Amino acid sequence: MQWLQNTINLEIDISSYCNARCPCCARTQQLEKIPVTHFDFDIWRRLWYSDLIDQNIYRLEFNGNWGDPLMHPDIIPMLGIVKEIKPDIQLVVNTNGGLRSKEFWKDFAILLRDNFKRHRLNFGIDGTTQKSHEIYRVDVELEKVLENARVFNDNGGVGFWQMTVFDHNVDEIPRAIEMAKEYGFSSIWFRRSYTRTVWNTNNEIAATTKCYDNIPTDKLFFAKRFKRSFTPDTGIPVPHPCKYFNKKSIQIDSYHNIWPCCHVSGKLYDTEKMNALHDSWQKYGYKCNNLEKHTYQEILESDYFVKEIQDALDTAKWQPCRSVCGIK
Ligand SMILES: C[S@@+](CC[C@H](N)C(=O)[O-])C[C@H]1O[C@@H](n2cnc3c(N)ncnc32)[C@H](O)[C@@H]1O
Ligand code: SF4
Ligand code: SF4
Repeated sequence: MQWLQNTINLEIDISSYCNARCPCCARTQQLEKIPVTHFDFDIWRRLWYSDLIDQNIYRLEFNGNWGDPLMHPDIIPMLGIVKEIKPDIQLVVNTNGGLRSKEFWKDFAILLRDNFKRHRLNFGIDGTTQKSHEIYRVDVELEKVLENARVFNDNGGVGFWQMTVFDHNVDEIPRAIEMAKEYGFSSIWFRRSYTRTVWNTNNEIAATTKCYDNIPTDKLFFAKRFKRSFTPDTGIPVPHPCKYFNKKSIQIDSYHNIWPCCHVSGKLYDTEKMNALHDSWQKYGYKCNNLEKHTYQEILESDYFVKEIQDALDTAKWQPCRSVCGIK
């Protein structure tokens, strides 16, 4: 597989710190196992100034499995580097929004407004009242999220409200649309939960999704735009069974490992389901896909990317490839 030539979209998880405890998040579920760290600034500098300088990178998305990107103390200087090297890059940031000060949100909006013409900030807001929101967004104060979003949106930021639909918030959809307008969002988007039942840390059912079976899909999962539209471009489509290869993307975690996707990267600490990942390290060298030891080019041209992932697809040996992409 020609990952180096194919990849134009980067998904990077720049921090494994988070202020929230969303119950289905891989981070929350493996809190005791995961090292808590930020993407190293010197490696970031090298990645953009050297490794990626001649690479055609179209889109950067801050997203992943282990944390919230706005926890990174250097997110503003990090984006300054990106802007300098790739002035036309499309930027997408995913956050729970309940962190940082109003001053930060103002500065952040101005930075994005003035430097990233094509940007979007997705706020994960899962209810219109504190009671409803915190069922999934545990430890996140709704009022703070909305005030942060207002400051961001009022200062030129393009904010999207992203709401995961559950039985407990499905009736709030009309109110959420009204509030999204009131708070200056450019769009609101309703989506499915990736788990149908949400269990809390006491092993009790916290949320359910029976409405997915009873209400027509288009009444539950849709997007509404209010201001300027934002058309994400996935690059040149390549029909391929691997979803990330198809969308010309890869995933980099806050530990500096490069993975084919967030689904494989999310199994890093789940040795039961992903022995194959650890087998790869045995075969190709410990952290053969790590930017501390190798350049971006070396990793995407290594046997791990070129041969091992192809072999995983050919033999369906990785659990996420079977369950997420239907590889048989
Ligand atoms: C681990 S989070 C990292 C980014 C950031 N902390 C956030 O929550 O937006 C990755 C993505 O998973 C989403 N997510 C979390 N729980 C979800 C669920 N049950 N169903 C669908 N998406 C979910 C988040 O909203 C975010 O878009
Ligand atoms: S805010 Fe994001 S990273 Fe944090 S617990 Fe929720 S889904 Fe996970
Ligand atoms: S789970 Fe496997 S097939 Fe699917 S995107 Fe990831 S690497 Fe590709």
